[in-house]
Amino acid sequence: MHQLGKTALLLAAGGVGAWLLARARQRASYSFADKVVLIAGGSRGLGLVLARELTRAGARVAICARDADVLERAAEDLAEMGRRPLAIPCDITEPEMVGDMIDRVILSLVPSMSSSTTPAPSASAPFRP
Ligand SMILES: NC(=O)c1ccc[n+]([C@@H]2O[C@H](COP(=O)([O-])OP(=O)(O)OC[C@H]3O[C@@H](n4cnc5c(N)ncnc54)[C@H](OP(=O)(O)O)[C@@H]3O)[C@@H](O)[C@H]2O)c1
Repeated sequence: MHQLGKTALLLAAGGVGAWLLARARQRASYSFADKVVLIAGGSRGLGLVLARELTRAGARVAICARDADVLERAAEDLAEMGRRPLAIPCDITEPEMVGDMIDRVILSLVPSMSSSTTPAPSASAPFRP
């Protein structure tokens, strides 16, 4: 093969490689902007760190924990970042509380449900751990 042909082939292979790499990178990135995220244990520790990151990424964040005062402090902390989370006191070992919490999250944060008065069937179904 002529030198020119080899160079053209190498350039074409390089171009295809770069395109495949760019496509893989694009697929690997995921945007949390406006995604609804419920973080159990979001009042402190790892849960609060996660809530901060997701708030920064533009997600609609809900946090829950048992201690309402600590939860409120976490909500104020997150509100300073620009978007106040939905903060729901809840003990996740209590199935009824979890069901009610999920109903509230769906009705408050899921845009298509915000104007509806009827909870989604899955939201009102009893929670099974
Ligand atoms: N920290 C680490 O290095 C590390 C490493 C690996 C794995 N983990 C695991 O990751 C998890 C979080 O760790 P962490 O260090 O962030 O713990 P943490 O500081 O003790 O925070 C736990 C969070 O969960 C909430 N919580 C506990 N029981 C709950 C319940 N029944 N219902 C609702 N909320 C409840 C707490 O709030 P209330 O007490 O007010 O309910 C708090 O918001 C734990 O399971 C831990 O074992 C931690």
